[in-house]
Amino acid sequence: MTDSAPVIAVIGGTGDLGSAIARRLVKAGERVVIGSRDPAKAADMASRLTAEADRVVGAGSNADVASQAQIVILTVPFASQESTLRDIAAGVAGKIVVDTTVPLVPPKVMRVQLPPEGSAAVRAQRILGEGVKVVSAFHNVAAHKLATDAVVDCDVLVFGDDKAARDSVVRLVGACGLRGVHAGALVNSAAAEALTSLLIFINKHYTVDGAGVRITGMTT
Ligand SMILES: NC(=O)c1ccc[n+]([C@@H]2O[C@H](COP(=O)([O-])OP(=O)(O)OC[C@H]3O[C@@H](n4cnc5c(N)ncnc54)[C@H](OP(=O)(O)O)[C@@H]3O)[C@@H](O)[C@H]2O)c1
Repeated sequence: MTDSAPVIAVIGGTGDLGSAIARRLVKAGERVVIGSRDPAKAADMASRLTAEADRVVGAGSNADVASQAQIVILTVPFASQESTLRDIAAGVAGKIVVDTTVPLVPPKVMRVQLPPEGSAAVRAQRILGEGVKVVSAFHNVAAHKLATDAVVDCDVLVFGDDKAARDSVVRLVGACGLRGVHAGALVNSAAAEALTSLLIFINKHYTVDGAGVRITGMTT
C-alpha cells in the first residue's frame, strides 16, 4: 500500500465490529485510523493494532479521524448512529461513509424493526445530506468471527447509489478477506439490515455460532 492509498477512519473503532474490521484492514496493509468518543481509548486500540501488525495505526476523536480520512466506516450502535453522524458530519463532505448499522432495538433483536426512513443506511444519507456517498455493508457478518484470522463463511452485501463508491467498498471487503457483492441502491440496504434479525434468530434456534449469508450462482 502506498502513501497515496486512502486513509480509512473507523468510527467507534474500539468496539466489536470496528476493531475487527480495522484489524483485518491493517493486516492487509491499508492505512487505518481509529476513532472514539475518547481519544485515549482510540489510542489504546491503535497501539494494540500497531503492535500486532507492525505498522502504525493512527487514533483520535471520531470527528478528528473522520476529517483526516478519505473513507469513513461507521461502527456504532443504532441508538447512537444519529448523534455520531452529526458529530462527524463537518468532516465527511464529499467522502465515502460506510454505514454498518443494523437497526436492532433491544430487547427484541430477533424481530425486524426498521426505522421510519426504511433503513439505517437511508437514515444516514438523510442525516449527512446528498453530498456524502453513503454505502452500507457488513450487516450480516459476526464481529467475533471477523476478529479472528479464520476464513469467515459469509458474503458481504454492499449497497449504495454511487457505483464507484460501492466499488471502493467491495475492494475493502476483499481486503478483509471476504467477498463483497454489489447489491444495488442504498434503499436495498433494508434487506440486509432486516436479515440480521433472522440470523440472530437462526443462531439461537439452531445453536449456530454466527450464521451468515452466501450468494450462490456467482462465478467471481
Ligand atoms: N457486533 C456484530 O457482530 C455486528 C455485526 C454486523 C453489524 N454490526 C453493527 O455494527 C455496529 C457496531 O456494533 P458493535 O457490536 O461493534 O457495537 P459496540 O461494540 O457495542 O460499540 C461500538 C462502539 O460504539 C461506541 N459507542 C457505544 N455507545 C455509544 C454511544 N452511546 N454514543 C456514541 N458512541 C457509542 C463505542 O466507542 P467509544 O466508547 O470508543 O466511543 C463502542 O466501542 C452496530 O450498529 C451493529 O448493528 C455489528
